[in-house]
Parts: sequence; C-alpha cells; structure tokens
Amino acid sequence: IPVDPFDYVVFGGTGDLAERKLLPALYHRQISGQLSEPTRIIGASRSEMDHDAYRQFARAALEEHLKQDELSEDEVGRFLARLYYVSVDAMSDKGWDDLKALLDDGSDEIRAFYLAVGPSLFGSISERIRNHGLITDKTRIVVEKPIGRDLASAKALNNTIGSVFAEDQIFRIDHYLGKETVQNLMALRFANAMYEPLWNSAHIDHVQITVAESVGLEGRAGYYDKAGALRDMVQNHLVQLLCLVAMEAPASMDAEAVRDEKLKVLRSLKRINDSNADNLTVRGQYKAGASAGGPAKGYLEELEGGVSNTETFVAIKAEIENWRWAGVPFYLRTGKRMSERMSEIVITFKPIPHSIFDDSAGKVIANQLVMRLQPNEGVKQWMMIKDPGPGGMRLRHIPLDMSFADRFEVRNPDAYERLLLDVIRSNQTLFMRRDEVEAAWLWVDPILKAWEENGQKVHPYTAGTWGPSQAIALIERDGRTWHESD
Ligand code: BG6
Repeated sequence: IPVDPFDYVVFGGTGDLAERKLLPALYHRQISGQLSEPTRIIGASRSEMDHDAYRQFARAALEEHLKQDELSEDEVGRFLARLYYVSVDAMSDKGWDDLKALLDDGSDEIRAFYLAVGPSLFGSISERIRNHGLITDKTRIVVEKPIGRDLASAKALNNTIGSVFAEDQIFRIDHYLGKETVQNLMALRFANAMYEPLWNSAHIDHVQITVAESVGLEGRAGYYDKAGALRDMVQNHLVQLLCLVAMEAPASMDAEAVRDEKLKVLRSLKRINDSNADNLTVRGQYKAGASAGGPAKGYLEELEGGVSNTETFVAIKAEIENWRWAGVPFYLRTGKRMSERMSEIVITFKPIPHSIFDDSAGKVIANQLVMRLQPNEGVKQWMMIKDPGPGGMRLRHIPLDMSFADRFEVRNPDAYERLLLDVIRSNQTLFMRRDEVEAAWLWVDPILKAWEENGQKVHPYTAGTWGPSQAIALIERDGRTWHESD
C-alpha cells in the first residue's frame, strides 16, 4: 500500500549513511510501489552542489550498493527525478531560506527531517528547523545513534530535541528493530500458542544473544575509539533484542504498548557495578590475525600507533530481576573482527526432568530455539527425534528448519526500508522512546564506571576468532557453552 506523499530532508545527504542505506532503501520502496506522487527526497549538507550533481551522486550510490538486476533505467530515472539538493550550514543561517523555499514549493506534504549527522549537530539543526518556520503539523524528525555517551549526555540531547519537537514527532532509530527476524521474534512469540507458556524461568535455562561482525574499524576510528563495543552495540542493539525476548505480551502492537513493556524489562535489569563487573563482564580487543580470507591488522595498528584500552568485544552475563526471568542468565556478546558475521538469539530450554532411554540411545540434548538475524535469516527449533531405521532406539538432535530463503522467494528487505516509511506512517513501534534510551544508559553507565574504577583491562583476542578465552570462561563457569553457528 503506498504511503502518503512526503518530503524527506536528509541532513548529511552526501554522507556515508545516505549513500549506503537511505537512498538505496527509498529506491527499493519506490520499486515496491510504496511511494506516491509527488514524493521528494531532499539532500542537505554543507557542500556546494546543484540538484543535478546530487542526482549523479545518488545514481553512483545506487549502482554501488544495489544489484544490477534491481536497476532499470526507467526506475532509476523516476527516482532521480524526485531528488533535490540544498546547501545548508548546520551551524549558521546560511542556506536555510533556500530550504524553506523548496519545501514551501511543494503542497502540504508530510515532512520528515532525517539527521544523518553527528549528535553534536542535533541541537543546532533542530533549532534552525524551528526558527526558520519549517515545522508543520505533519513534521517528524529522525535521529540516529549515538544518542549520548552516557546518561547525562543522552538526557541533554533528548532535552535539546525535545525542546523543539514533541515526543510523538521524534523517531530514534535503532536499525536492528527494522531487521526481519527481529520483527519475526514478535510474531513467533505472540502469534503462536506453543511458546509463551514455556517462555519463563520454569522452562528456559538461559538465553544467548550474539552479534558478531567480521569487519574491523572501517575507517571510523575517530568515533569508535571513544565509544567501544558497549556503547556502540550493547546499549542499543543488544539491549533492544533482549527486551523483545524478555518483555511481557503488550496489550497491542501500538507503539506505546510495546515500548511500555520494553521499558519494564530495562528497569528490571540487575545492576552491574564495581562489586560484580569483574565476574559479569569481559572486555576484549583484537590483535592481528586473519579475517574474510586475508590477513587482518590489529586494532591498535588500525588506530595507527595509538594506545587504547577501548573494547572491540564485550561479553556480559545479564540478569532480569522479575518474576518471569529470575535466575535465567542472558549471555550477551558482540565484537568486531570475529570468526564470521553472525547474529543470533538462542533460547535454551531446560533439560527433560528424567530420561527413560538407556545409554545406547545416546544423550538427550535440551531443546533450543535459534533465531538467526543474519546472514541466512531464519528460525530453527532443535529437537530430539528417533534416528530413522531399524537400528533400535537411537536419539538424534535435529532442527525444524524455517530458513527464510528456502521457504519464501521474496527478497529480504534492508532494515532501513521498513523504518524509513514507518516514519511517514507515523508508526513509532519500532523506534526508541526517550525513557527507553535513558533506562538503557542507566544500566550501562555503572558498567562503564566500574571498568574505569576497577581498571578493567581489555583481553587481547586474535582477529578472526570468537573473542578472548575469558568470554568462553564466562559462560563455561556456569556449565554452559556458547552456541556454535550451524
Ligand atoms: C552500527 C554500529 O550501529 O551497527 C556499527 O555503529 C556496526 O559499528 C553496525 O558495524 C552493525 O550493523 P549490521 O546491520 O551490519 O549488523
């Protein structure tokens, strides 16, 4: 179903995010017939450029990031015709009248301002949007992480944006929420009767959430070295995944209903501080090794001679102190330059209470539900069955396999495709509310403080491995192991 016509103004319109994600995502939505006329996309940034030069930039971006068979000249031509460009200075009034003139030129469209720029510009851009009279009653603003580097700075940013826009106009993107399997987690839990009765500490032994990347710094040293894996990945993506696994059934898919439930989980997270951080968290940093079939530099070499105690890997044993989850550990881990790019959520059920089978049948392995976010999106329910054939009762552990690529012939859309149009639809279900972001920082802040106070060092791991041995020990101490990808 097409959405109403809109004007998307992308600040940072010539930047990396616009090039890699936003323009290709909007192009895909056009192919799917979801853009109606007269929808416009307006790139804004400091560079001097005219509309045509921006269209050339966009054409190159589509050619670079999409497959050849997705690019028909006709479709690309239609897309480029919706593109405009305005040179605007975020820190002065230069160019803002031109932006206003361009926007006023359209009819009364939905207006979305996407701030694909660093957070230091959020305040100044928001205020100029207001001061130049660009806010209509159909206006929304979209911001990307990092929303702060701790609770205090997150609050300050939220205050700044909140002084210009109302909460229902603010869309804080966590692109993990736009991933297909992440949304599928809600379908799996709440559109099936068989999981929910088991979804608690009586039946679940533990949960693992892994977001492993094979890439290294990708030229983002300036940002990353000040952030580290806890801020870059855990505070947002992993914590959001944990919330969706752990939350109670919301009253509906309504944004407030879902976010209220996630917030309760965040508020129930057991505090990690200087008294327990050494036992519950592991920090790692990669050293030279091999990745993606070639040699990979160590983190410090990528920093070019820098000295740094920034973690590129983190593992945490988290606990949720509420009735449903008391005593069920949630093991989280994420890292750069790991063995492979692989993200998954693994729910391990409790073992059967008693086995009626004798030793010759083999070991009864506990059931596991594996939700694979990427790559090879899908869900596998691992079960015990009898090995077929006349050889007597031999048990085997095999998956009920719902691999999406095998099952459905549709293309797996990028997370941004869904999210960009949810902004236009004014649907905030998959966006973070202010109190959620702040509650996540409230949990993360004491961890950061404990690391600093305890002088918790990063453990080296070789690029192309699963992280430092201490991360393996973190889970094996509890008699469990990290799930191996299959
Ligand atoms: C971003 C992080 O939010 O997510 C990056 O800043 C990370 O460091 C990226 O590489 C991972 O996203 P995806 O969709 O590739 O798993």
